[in-house]
Amino acid sequence: MCGIVGYIGKAQAAPILLDGLSKLEYRGYDSAGIAVYDGEHIVGKKAMGRLKVLSEMTHDGETMPGTVGIGHTRWATHGAPTDENAHPHFNESETIAVVHNGIIENYLKLKKKLIDKGYSFQSETDTEVVAHLLDYYYKGNPLEAITKVMHRVDGSYALGIIFADQPGYVYAVRKDSPLIVGKGKDGNLIASDVPAVLKYTRDVCFIENEEIARLSEDAIEFFNVDGEPIEKTYKTIEWDVNAAEKGGYEHFMLKEMYEQPKTVRDTLSPRLKDNDIVIEELGMTDEEIREISRIRIVACGSAYHTGVTAKYVYEGMARIPVEVDLASEFRYRNPILDEKELVIIISQSGETADSLAALREAKERGNTTMGIVNVVGSSIAREADKVFYTWAGPEIAVATTKAYSAQLIAHYLLAIKFARVRGTITEQEMADYITDLKRLPDQIELLLGNKERIQRFANRYVTAKDVFFIGRGIDYAISLEGSLKLKEISYIHSEAYAAGELKHGTISLIEEGTLVSAVVTQEDLYKKTVSNIVEVRTRGAFVMAVTNEGNTEIEKAADYVVYIPKTNKYFTNSLAIIPLQLFSYYVSVGKGCDVDKPRNLAKSVTVE
Ligand code: AGP
Repeated sequence: MCGIVGYIGKAQAAPILLDGLSKLEYRGYDSAGIAVYDGEHIVGKKAMGRLKVLSEMTHDGETMPGTVGIGHTRWATHGAPTDENAHPHFNESETIAVVHNGIIENYLKLKKKLIDKGYSFQSETDTEVVAHLLDYYYKGNPLEAITKVMHRVDGSYALGIIFADQPGYVYAVRKDSPLIVGKGKDGNLIASDVPAVLKYTRDVCFIENEEIARLSEDAIEFFNVDGEPIEKTYKTIEWDVNAAEKGGYEHFMLKEMYEQPKTVRDTLSPRLKDNDIVIEELGMTDEEIREISRIRIVACGSAYHTGVTAKYVYEGMARIPVEVDLASEFRYRNPILDEKELVIIISQSGETADSLAALREAKERGNTTMGIVNVVGSSIAREADKVFYTWAGPEIAVATTKAYSAQLIAHYLLAIKFARVRGTITEQEMADYITDLKRLPDQIELLLGNKERIQRFANRYVTAKDVFFIGRGIDYAISLEGSLKLKEISYIHSEAYAAGELKHGTISLIEEGTLVSAVVTQEDLYKKTVSNIVEVRTRGAFVMAVTNEGNTEIEKAADYVVYIPKTNKYFTNSLAIIPLQLFSYYVSVGKGCDVDKPRNLAKSVTVE
């Protein structure tokens, strides 16, 4: 999604804006631009393509003097990726510049009104409407103009705004799209996300919905939608700057895969106390846990896949019925929720529009909501009744790995806690589960040590056209994630299938040499899945099996076997995913794809 930065202070703004935008590239974009006040006018430069085009155009910002400015990386929503549609956008006299992340849903109606009033437009964007609307309402008081615009526009927006006749201020406005301010020692900043400001400050404030921030060189003030001053608190971000850099790995994705042992430890340890599971931050009483009638998990993409895994875990351990919904479907099918249903929204970014909308739908119905979220202070984290943070740190690669693994841990902990409180597991069973959980980080570490072997195997499949991922039960759930990983970073078509379902149609696609990945970790389903392996092999498939150490029998059925260390049957997804992540990563690298920023994808889909 789009990235926003802004700066006002003692230093030259343009280089800081470009640096900040470079830290937001992971959000996915197709053009970029900056606007700087040069002492007389606001000067804007923007260009299609990667950020380096803009940097070259401005000699890394040197040709744009000034200490106040805003910048933007655009992920096209309204209007194709072109120079004209790139941000910042201006009013006609170029005395107001605006950058925007989000969607102005009533922009066409407003655009028509403005054209009827004599305004002319340079772009097809919804954002330009905001620039002209500000102009229409501006009578010398920026705050008054901004609040009037906020009352007129519908939709989502994070805005950065500067006024040529008020060069001592940068304005930031937020509704639904994330926006933060950073208090620096040589100046103050705005940004869409933390990595953009970390180089300058750790003191960050998350702007809430319908709030305005006014930044000057040495002060930051906040106002509500009526222009009244409000107080805000700052958070100190613990992330190191290099935590958001690659740290020596070739790609963020590889770095983040190797951070999984730490991520699992960091998500586990604050909740394990004296062999008990304590999740104080939820503030859930045992009574509330006993009253849960059903768990409804709603998410997108990989977060959704952890929900498919979690269904087996909650139902198996705690005997609580679970429904898993795609967030993009949930609110449009008039879902039937009973009042004691716990709705869990899973989201790494905490800003996914469909997941945020699902959360609001559940809250409107009066259901208790819980967010399993990675980004502190994100919209879903703040709006859910309860939040379970996954301490995965900044996840930059578009393809999620460590956040996915942390979300699985969150589910395991909740399921064990719920099961113990509801009496469906004994004290000893809980202790055994905890012992197995504590082993997972080292077991993941062990599997990551396998990378050369997986890399050699992956190199054989860089020209593959179709790959199938099959499994039964919880092995089907991990196959969904394995398939998505391959698709999204290597652009090779793949499908995940419940192994028993293949014969109902899809098996007709299996040809000589078709690669089929079979995950076989559930002892009680082992024989069934092996028979599915034989089915596809007799039709010419080459089968890669991922199974538990000791299942050497499988070597009679599969062509290539990856063993995972023994763990509890509910936790095998946390281990089976490692070879599947490595496989996809090395196929993508082998194909020369942009691993961290795959085509057409964004790290956080903050629009519908
Ligand atoms: C997974 O690799 C993708 N990046 C994507 O499916 C992602 O999981 C999905 O968009 C949900 O994002 P969220 O967790 O930030 O809500």
